[in-house]
Amino acid sequence: MIPTSDFLVVGTGVAGLSFALKASRHGSVTILAKKSAEDTNTNLAQGGIAAVMGQDDLLEYHVEDTLDSGCGLSNPLAVKTVVEAGPRMIKELLGLGVPFSSQIDHPDIPELGREGGHSRRRIIHAKDMTGQAVQRVLGGLAAADPAVTVLERHQALDLILGTAPDGRRRPIGLWVLDAQTGQISPFLAKVVILATGGSGKVYLYTTNPEGATGDGLAIGWRAGARVANMEFVQFHPTCLYHPQVRNFLISEAVRGEGGRLIDHEGRPIMEGHPRGDLALRDVVALAIDASMKQSGAENVFLDITHKPAAFIRDRFPKIHDTCLSLGIDITVEPIPVVPAAHYQCGGLQVDIDGRTNVPGLYAIGEVAATGLHGANRLASNSLLEALVMADRASSAAAAEARSVPAPAAADISPWPSGRIGSVPKEAVLISHSWDEIRRFMWNYVGLVRSDQRLAMASKRLDLVKNEIDDFFRNFEVDADLIEVRNIAAVADLIISCATMRKESRGLHYSLSWPVRDDRRFLGDTVLDNPAPLLGLDRTGSL
Ligand code: SIN
Repeated sequence: MIPTSDFLVVGTGVAGLSFALKASRHGSVTILAKKSAEDTNTNLAQGGIAAVMGQDDLLEYHVEDTLDSGCGLSNPLAVKTVVEAGPRMIKELLGLGVPFSSQIDHPDIPELGREGGHSRRRIIHAKDMTGQAVQRVLGGLAAADPAVTVLERHQALDLILGTAPDGRRRPIGLWVLDAQTGQISPFLAKVVILATGGSGKVYLYTTNPEGATGDGLAIGWRAGARVANMEFVQFHPTCLYHPQVRNFLISEAVRGEGGRLIDHEGRPIMEGHPRGDLALRDVVALAIDASMKQSGAENVFLDITHKPAAFIRDRFPKIHDTCLSLGIDITVEPIPVVPAAHYQCGGLQVDIDGRTNVPGLYAIGEVAATGLHGANRLASNSLLEALVMADRASSAAAAEARSVPAPAAADISPWPSGRIGSVPKEAVLISHSWDEIRRFMWNYVGLVRSDQRLAMASKRLDLVKNEIDDFFRNFEVDADLIEVRNIAAVADLIISCATMRKESRGLHYSLSWPVRDDRRFLGDTVLDNPAPLLGLDRTGSL
């Protein structure tokens, strides 16, 4: 029997789980996790969730800070919608039992942290493990919900094409690889929701987990979903610099509590900037890059040693313990840090309810581009966006599911992409492609770009893509090959968008076009797939 549900969700981070918990009131939900259900970007999120909860704060201030960070590209409707829903989302999570840190004198009131670009304290957090706290509560509720089925080690490959009663072609499910059996088989649903998170693994250095390979983005793009603003890749200024641990984040909240960036000589890096160490991330990451290039050093330092040791241990237990396990006592010595790829601000373009331009296909969380982030995401706005968009998409998708019939096995057309169960490939060739893409993306499409660097990356990518396509056609399709094909698709989209934007704005900095050009580029970079794999109708009303 082909597994069939009303809603098929890919991804078990905050977006996927909160969508599932709300959609399950309207029908059956299947959620796919490609590894364990906890292997998500959400689980690693340290900082928190931005929401207006403070006495001195107003929704208008949060809107202003978000628009300011977006450098003219944020969609005001998305900003207003997400910011206004913030306090309600936090109250919902508190009601579900998420253990946010509270004020010492008022255990019922959340303690508010501060991060770069925020004019007020408004970061709701659970010490420095906010994502994990949310993930555990939502994950526990999803596991206990009889209408929700969570399937681990099930990797989505491509959408399945079907035909709606009105004759329009739409996705009716996904081809899925079951890692335990090695089988690729169809999963059907009335509505498909991509909540796969980001794509940090396209870069050599990233704060993201292993699974962040842009799967949902690539699946949507191949099917014909529109993509926007992929040039805006956020590099977090402070990833731990350590040979054994490559992707451990040192939360911006450390700077929010007074941490200062210094170089190897102890000179403050952000001195002279009006917002100092709490300037926006693009500004801080570029300043660190410039400092490292000037000194020839491979890292800089983040110093919080002026704070009492007891405060540091209590406020940042995860960062403290992880660093200590690596021989760095952050209460007495500065932390070695470097910028690393952290967040994809662009993605599958969606409307304010999470609909892509492909009927029946939704995208929520980091995989989607709602217009909230514009050219640079404001810290801790992403968990908030995921919660709000999951809430809105669950209502929209429930209404849509009521209007379409359940898909049937007879509607399934063959998977057009690759070969199932043919000759096993040699793993070594694929790991070469992985490494190659991640290196040239880091070197040529990182913090500082130029027309020449982008052209070089594009040429190198063409070669690797041919190699990967060849593998896909001729060898057995497995988890690794699926991921590297997705990474190549994401790299292609980043390079294409970056090449189209001939200016510098927010997270996109080009030596060839160092000035912001509002006359020509005050708008989204939008890409439509000229040859979508499934030839789906793309009649959504974005
Ligand atoms: C951090 O803790 O610095 C990450 C917060 C974010 O990226 O929003």
